[in-house]
Amino acid sequence: MSDGDTARASAFERGGARKAAEGLGHLSGFGNEHSSEAVPGALPEGRNSPQRAPLGLYAEQLSGTAFTEPRAHNRRSWLYRIRPSAAHPAFTRTGNGAIRSAPFNQTVPDPNRLRWSPLPAPAEGTDFLAGLWTLGGNGDVAQRAGMAVHLYHANASMDRVFSDADGELLIVPEEGGLVLRTEFGLLHVEPGHIALVPRGVRFRVELLDDVARGYVCENYGAAFRLPDLGPIGANGLANARDFRAPVAAYEDVEGPVEVVNKFCGNLWSATYDHSPMDVVAWHGNHVPYAYDLRRFNVMGTISYDHPDPSVFTVLTAPSDTPGLAGVDFVVFAPRWLVGEDTFRPPYFHRNVMSEYMGLIEGAYDAKAEGFVPGGGSLHNMMSAHGPDRETFEKASAAELRPQKIDDGLAFMFETRWPVSLTPQAARAEHLQQRYDEVWQGLERHFRTM
Ligand SMILES: [Fe+2]
Repeated sequence: MSDGDTARASAFERGGARKAAEGLGHLSGFGNEHSSEAVPGALPEGRNSPQRAPLGLYAEQLSGTAFTEPRAHNRRSWLYRIRPSAAHPAFTRTGNGAIRSAPFNQTVPDPNRLRWSPLPAPAEGTDFLAGLWTLGGNGDVAQRAGMAVHLYHANASMDRVFSDADGELLIVPEEGGLVLRTEFGLLHVEPGHIALVPRGVRFRVELLDDVARGYVCENYGAAFRLPDLGPIGANGLANARDFRAPVAAYEDVEGPVEVVNKFCGNLWSATYDHSPMDVVAWHGNHVPYAYDLRRFNVMGTISYDHPDPSVFTVLTAPSDTPGLAGVDFVVFAPRWLVGEDTFRPPYFHRNVMSEYMGLIEGAYDAKAEGFVPGGGSLHNMMSAHGPDRETFEKASAAELRPQKIDDGLAFMFETRWPVSLTPQAARAEHLQQRYDEVWQGLERHFRTM
C-alpha cells in the first residue's frame, strides 16, 4: 500500500480531473498496427531498430506472443523510451496482499451454486493493487493457461507502478471512474466500460472518485480477441472501431519509483531511480484498450426461443481446442425481447463451462433479488441454474409484447474449467448462505391431461 502522505500528486487527483480524462485523445480499432508519438519525430521511419533511435531514445520490443505464432494472432509492440526497461535493480519479494494465483488448490472444488454480496469497504489509503481480492480461478500461471477472478475495492490512487507477467487484465469498473496511466498512454474508463491491459504492460490506476470498485479477469492464456462472427456477417457484437487505444504520453521523472511485478503468482518489488513510464513513442498491436459496453451491438431472436448467451460475447480468449474458450467475456446489455411463444428470461440450464457473473448496474432479468451491483455468482461446471421462482412465474404468465430490457448491465466470465475458490472467498462473510433458496418453491405443474 502506498503512503498517502508521500503519494505523488497527479493531475487527475486535482480539480477538473474527470474533464481532463474525458478530453483524452485515443486511437480507434482493435488489433490494429497502431502507432503514436508524444514528440514529433520520436518514431523511427522504415525500421524498428535503427543504429541510433530518434531523439536519443532506446528501442525495445515487447512480445505478447512467441515470435513465431501465426501472423493473424501475433502480438508485439515496439517502444521508444528514455531508458530501456532493462535498467532496473533486482526485484525482491513483497507481500501478495489478498491476491492469489493458480493453481488454486487450497479448497475442494465446490459443485454448489454460490453468490456473494459486494466486497466490504477497504481501509483508508487502499490503492487498486492493495484492493485486489482474489475469488478463485483455474489453470496454472506457470503453464500460461486458465484464469482468475478478482474483485477490487480502492479509495486511493496508485503511486507505484504495476505489471503482470502472469496474464492480461480485463478490468470491469462497477463504481468510480478510473484513469489508467500505462506505458502506452492514458485510458479513461467509467462504470459500463472495460479496460484491457496486456500481459507485461506497466500501468498505474488513478481514481476519479472517492471510491473505485469492480471486477478483474486475469487471463493467463492466449490474449482476448474479438470473436469470429460466422453467419452474423462482417459487423455486429463489439465492433472493432469502438475500441480505444491510448496515444503516447510519457513521464520524465528522475527519482525513486516503486515498480511491482506479478510473476508466477507472487508480487515482487523494486525501487527504480526513474519512472519506467517513459515511452515517448510506440507502434504495434500489443497495446491496452478501453471499450464502452453500451456500444455492444446486441443480437437476439426475432422469431422464437432464447439464443445461447455466446451471442453476447464481447471478447474471447481461445484455448488450443477450436471453439472452446479459455475464457469468454460476455455482456448482457440493454436489448429488446420480442420472441413469440417464448420463455424470455435465460432458460434453465446446466453447462460444461463454468460461469462467474457480475452486475455493473441495475438488475438482471433472471434474478428478482439478491444479485446486486458489485456482487457476483458462480455456477460451476454442470451446476443447475436459471431464473428464480418469482421470475419464472412472472415470465410464464406475461403477455408477450415487445419488451425493452434496459434497467441493468450484467456480465459473465465464462471459462472452460471449474473455478476453485480461494479460502478467503469460501469463508467470506459476504458469501450468501441461502442462495439455493432462490430455486426452492418452484412448483410442480405436471399433469397428464
Ligand atoms: Fe448460466
